[in-house]
Formats: sequence, structure tokens, C-alpha cells
Amino acid sequence: MPSTLPGVPDIDEQLAADVLEQLGVVEERLRASVATSDDMVRWTGRHLMDAGGKRVRPMLVLLAASLGDIKAESVIEAAVLVELTHLASLYHDDVMDSAPTRRGTDSAHALWGNNVAILTGDFLFARASALSARIGTSAVREHSETFERLCLGQLHETVGPTAEDDHFAHYISVLSDKTASLLALAGSLGASLGGGPEGSAEVLRRYGEKIGVAFQLADDVLDLESDASTSGKTPGIDLREGVPTMPTLLVRRRAAEKQDARSLDMVARLDGDLSSDAALDELVSLLREDPALEETRELAQRTADEAVQILAELPAGPVRDALTAFTRTLVERKS
Ligand code: IPE
Ligand code: IPE
Ligand code: MG
Ligand code: MG
Repeated sequence: MPSTLPGVPDIDEQLAADVLEQLGVVEERLRASVATSDDMVRWTGRHLMDAGGKRVRPMLVLLAASLGDIKAESVIEAAVLVELTHLASLYHDDVMDSAPTRRGTDSAHALWGNNVAILTGDFLFARASALSARIGTSAVREHSETFERLCLGQLHETVGPTAEDDHFAHYISVLSDKTASLLALAGSLGASLGGGPEGSAEVLRRYGEKIGVAFQLADDVLDLESDASTSGKTPGIDLREGVPTMPTLLVRRRAAEKQDARSLDMVARLDGDLSSDAALDELVSLLREDPALEETRELAQRTADEAVQILAELPAGPVRDALTAFTRTLVERKS
């Protein structure tokens, strides 16, 4: 029988059962980690956690830990730590991106306003910090370095490239910092706390860094391709907010190089007023049919292939196979 690990087909049955069991423990611990007597945060702190989410980062911690002992107590703490940090960043990100929906429900700021959303995100970061302290000093250090990169990634996305910056290199560095840094932490903590073979934490850190970029490139495709009922997010929201994504960078480059009517028209729309749903829908439709979307998908695939090559440095076996299957699901996902 193939495994039942959500979204990851055909992995070793025993491994899948162990990861699933530990994911159940992670869910319980996640709820416990935000428990509070505060009447408001009791609700706001659980809002996105209860709304769902794929739990990709805890899954990576657990798969990486399977190189050693997945049942180690600090492995569970690390899985909760990365998901809490991710959750906190989502509260803040939806404020910055003016995103009305997340995980198929109203975003926190849409329900309670920006201040409550930001402060709830800070509350989750505080709880994540407490958890890193329980794991140990090196987890505190690695977590704080990750948190710094996450903030800088979001900041550099907001500020945009300087006149000297190459726009594509700038964009990839933003993705690495805002998204890949946390997947790298998930891989490295999982392998080190599970007690995997010598050097495996470093391999998983590099793997996480690579797959994080591929994952975020796939997110750029999903933002255009997916409808709200599948992704749980509002399609095209990055366009309306003027957040650069790989497809739009590609269209802008083509317009600059070729000066063709279609590309110039799309750039004019990108820079124009997208506040009406009709204008946004038209641009989304144009981008869906544009080669830039397929180019972004291919880049995500190539980056995922590079991640799989890094996995070749691990001992052959069911965990390496499972991580390979996991890599594919991250770029072939629909939500
Ligand atoms: C969304 O992450 C933010 C990105 C870094 C792309 P996920 O796609 O993992 O979101 P959830 O956790 O499943 O909601
Ligand atoms: C999210 O980036 C990255 C972080 C939360 C740090 P995006 O803004 O691109 O992700 P979505 O599309 O809103 O999930
Ligand atoms: Mg966003
Ligand atoms: Mg954002």
C-alpha cells in the first residue's frame, strides 16, 4: 500500500506512519503553544492555525529527523517552532500585502484591523522564541538568524532593488531570505535534533534553502493560476499591490528588450490602476496565457531538481526517497 502522508505519494509505509503520528503530536503542541488567559489573543492567536495550512515546514523537520530519531522530544519542539514562526509571518505578511483572505478564511487584519493582526503576529513570535530557548542555545541563535533574514527579505521586497541591482538577482535574494531561510532552518534543526548522520544537518540546510526558492517560485505561479477556492488566497493580489513576482519581472524584461505591443501593453497594465476587479481579472487572464508563466514553472522545476541533487549527498534509503517525493510535491502543488 502506498503511504498516506498528505500530498506526498509513494513513500515508505513505516516512515509515513511515523511522520503522520508525529504530525498529530505537532498539532496538539501547536494549540498548547498559543494558550493564553488573554481574552482577545485566545481567539486571534489561533485563527490562522485553526484555518488549516499544509504544515510543510513541520513535515520537513520530521522527514529530516527521520535520518535519526524522529521521536526525540526536541524534534517536536522544532516542528512547532518553525510553524509558529511561519504563522506569525503570515499575520504580518497579510497586512503588508493587504491580502483579504488566507487559508480559505478572512485574514486577521480583515477581521480585527492591522494593529491586532501585527500584535498577534508579535505574540506568536514571542511564543516561538520561548520554544527555541527550550531547545537550546544553538536553536535560539539559528532561529534569530532566520528571523532576521525573514524580516530583511520582506523589507527588501518592500523597498525594491536599487539602481545598481540586477532585478532578477535581487528577486531571488528576496525569496531566499523571506521564504527559504525558514525551510533551511526546518531541515537543519530536524537533522541535527534527530541526531542524523554527520554532516546531514548542513546538507538539509542547503536543501531547504534551495527548495524554499523553488517553493516560492511555485507560489508566484499559483497566485496567477489558482482560484481562491483551491489556494485559499485571493488570486492576483500581488499584482494589485505592485509586489514583483517572477512572471511580471519576465514580462517587464521582454518589454524592455523587444518593445513589442503585447508586452508593452501588459507593462502599462501592471503600472496602471488595478483597483477594479475587472482590470485585475483582465491582467490575470493575459498573464495566465503568457509564456512567462511557463518559464516561471520551469525555473521552479529546475530549482527543485537542484534541491534533489543536494539530497544525493545523504545516505540512500527511504528517508532520502521520501525527501525526493516531498520536493516534487512542493513545486507541483495546487494550493
Ligand atoms: C505561504 O506558505 C507563504 C509562502 C512562503 C509562500 P505556505 O504555502 O506554506 O502556506 P500554508 O502554511 O500552507 O498556509
Ligand atoms: C510570504 O510571501 C512570505 C512570508 C510570509 C515571509 P508572499 O506574500 O509571497 O506569500 P503569500 O502568497 O501571501 O502566501
Ligand atoms: Mg502575501
Ligand atoms: Mg508578501
